[in-house]
Amino acid sequence: MKRFKGLLTIVMSAVIIAGAMAGCSSKGNDSSSGGKKDSKVLIGSAIYKFDDTFMTGVRGAMEGQAKDKGTDIELVDSQNKQPTQNEQVDTFITKGVTALAINPVDRTAAGPIIEKAKAKKLPIVFLNREPEKADMNSYDKVWYVGAKAEQSGTQSGEILVDYFKAHPEADKNKDGVIQYVMLQGEPGHQDATLRTEYSIKAIEAGGFKTQKLAADTAMWDKAKATDLMKAFITGQGLDKIEAVLANNDDMALGAIEALKAEGYNKGDASKYIPVVGVDATAPALQAMKEGSLLGTVLNDAENQGKATVNIALAAAEGKEINEANVGYPVTDGKYVWINYVKVTQENYKSYIK
Ligand code: GAL
Repeated sequence: MKRFKGLLTIVMSAVIIAGAMAGCSSKGNDSSSGGKKDSKVLIGSAIYKFDDTFMTGVRGAMEGQAKDKGTDIELVDSQNKQPTQNEQVDTFITKGVTALAINPVDRTAAGPIIEKAKAKKLPIVFLNREPEKADMNSYDKVWYVGAKAEQSGTQSGEILVDYFKAHPEADKNKDGVIQYVMLQGEPGHQDATLRTEYSIKAIEAGGFKTQKLAADTAMWDKAKATDLMKAFITGQGLDKIEAVLANNDDMALGAIEALKAEGYNKGDASKYIPVVGVDATAPALQAMKEGSLLGTVLNDAENQGKATVNIALAAAEGKEINEANVGYPVTDGKYVWINYVKVTQENYKSYIK
């Protein structure tokens, strides 16, 4: 009896271990329909870094959409290192994912990742950091979900145009020129380049001359932006700065911290410099409520995340990528563009969740 019990324990342990192993490797397979292999989708997604306010919103939307669609998704943090991301893609492929959703660390490094996907005939969706055209055209199963950076630049410039039209006193030295400082995102990122360019174009199209006092990168980062803005204030003198443009909200909020340290943007109308950002993150909407941030532009994390998951899922199921199958218009068979929306005092409340 004792020997039988021992044998039973061994057999049961073996069954448990085998079951657990099958559980690990079956992720993404459909065990409910008689264990038909690879019938369920598993999306492997690498995000350039988790510690990014806007991308945290996109990640949340991706997880929510995967849940709603009953699809497995695995999200990993590339920690702002391209070699780490490349290894994560290899691991996903070895694991047997059925689609990839990649937010590249370096958008010019998409080529080798596409090659890896192509070798396994895996669909791949890039998001938020747009690969070069040549890379996008190198494989028929590659798509991009993003937003037109030019549009966000134009809208942030227009917010300043409206402000200067309504507040002629904001031209502090009365020279008819808007003296501004610009806090830029990561060099090489399409959103940094184009937001910088198009925001100024819009101000000039609105009838104002501009003068750049200073511009530099704060890498999308709030703390770096506070330091940079402090340096701008020391270098230029606070009374010379008439507007602050930031390529995203985290940097706009960082700049506001530096202004507040000087007693600015705290409610005293004589000590106010208009600041605009992009993203419409929750803290930015709060800053609009308290009046320290003039305006922002909605970078629609919700729809960018949803569209990414919808394309990965449809492609993994072998469906054609079109509006009927993914719920968003598809341009040139490869691109889903999500619109930006201007966020001002008139409408910001409707974006507070
Ligand atoms: C931009 C966004 C930034 C940052 C960046 C990351 O679209 O405005 O806040 O998240 O993407 O690539």
